[in-house]
Amino acid sequence: MKKIANLALALGVLSVGSLMADASIKAYKAENLSTITLDAKAWQSAKEQSIIFYPQTTIEMNDIDVVKLNAENKAKKVSIKSLSDGENIAFLLKWQDGTKSVQESDSSTSYGDGFAVQFPITLDKLPYIGMGSEGRGVVVHLQKATGKTYEPNGNQDVFHQVNASNQNVYEADAKKYKDEVAKIGNTDYQRVYLAEGFRSMTQIRDSSENAMMEMKYDKGFWSGMIVRKLKSENLDLSLGHFPIAFALWDGEKKNRDGMKLLSSWVEVKVEGKGGKSLIALEELSGDAKNGEKVMLENCAACHQYKEVKTAPNFMAPNLSNIGGYSNSSYLLESIVDPSAVVVPGYNTTAHPNFPWYSVDDKGIRSSTMPSFSHLDEKSLTDLVAYLKTLKVEVQK
Ligand code: HEC
Repeated sequence: MKKIANLALALGVLSVGSLMADASIKAYKAENLSTITLDAKAWQSAKEQSIIFYPQTTIEMNDIDVVKLNAENKAKKVSIKSLSDGENIAFLLKWQDGTKSVQESDSSTSYGDGFAVQFPITLDKLPYIGMGSEGRGVVVHLQKATGKTYEPNGNQDVFHQVNASNQNVYEADAKKYKDEVAKIGNTDYQRVYLAEGFRSMTQIRDSSENAMMEMKYDKGFWSGMIVRKLKSENLDLSLGHFPIAFALWDGEKKNRDGMKLLSSWVEVKVEGKGGKSLIALEELSGDAKNGEKVMLENCAACHQYKEVKTAPNFMAPNLSNIGGYSNSSYLLESIVDPSAVVVPGYNTTAHPNFPWYSVDDKGIRSSTMPSFSHLDEKSLTDLVAYLKTLKVEVQK
């Protein structure tokens, strides 16, 4: 880390003359969004934009079916509209999904469709795309399609409350519970989390990060809406220029937890606000062909990607889709300073022989990947350009 002491600087140096505009979302001006709904007329004034979501291939789960389904997954084009009234920001996602999957509370084999949106808390360094990273937190809003649930105390334990009094009336209690749920339950499984990496997810139960969320399935398409304040206890997006990232779960493909489709960080620009983004979301453009060579020489011993499978399974993250859900700045950082963000979710059960990191007495994780900051600038830029090409095709 001597040669490139500071990543922002490194990006600055590397990007001279090689900047490409990355995808961004414009938030169109609107009036009072505090009561907007998914079907509201107001959405007509926002232009449809599209963002591609890629299947997460960094880690794998123990469930073989999921691994198989995930390997067959294509990328998905999602239509996104955005509105802002200066105080609130609203997003409307629309994506194709041939099957409406709704998770029922009494089933552990069916999974619900869902979507999530994440916002960075720190605006000077990009958080890790999967739920943030240490010192770079995110606020995550999640909605899943579920059957009716009823949890007046927020503890998801109504069944136990109804049932606890007397084991002998179990049947009757169960019926009573189900009737009650059918009558007054709702289908809005919504959560908001603060996270600094997957290990440190905390659900926010007070109203400090309130959002209105809504999901609706119609003729083969899901729509999902979220509306929230630009400024809150944890976030300040009032500059009007900030990164956002999205995720989708497809219940039919047994998507759950980290098994999902992910966008990279994309920039939101609120109409009428001139603020400059503090995070570099620009893409580097280098010579991907040369980058491919650099990659084979330096990286293929540990990482699998596309048809290159010389490394043992999951000795290191599979990079087959890394270009789809990562930004150039993250990729460059991963190469020159691997321990800056240590990828979470490493599956010790499935791959006990290849630890991805070591942990010191203070609990700080260091990556087993060596730094490649000794590579010259051209090799680094070319490498990043090649990594950006690693992604599966979009579903037709
Ligand atoms: C000695 C094995 C090893 C070598 C060689 C290696 N890596 Fe890694 N790499 C890892 C491990 C282990 C991780 C996961 C821990 C972490 O986050 O650093 C990782 C993480 C990454 C990540 C983050 C992945 C994600 O899903 O976010 C990227 C990108 C990456 N490596 C790229 C490279 C590139 C490019 C090279 C070659 C210049 C390379 N690696 C060489 C072991 C290696």
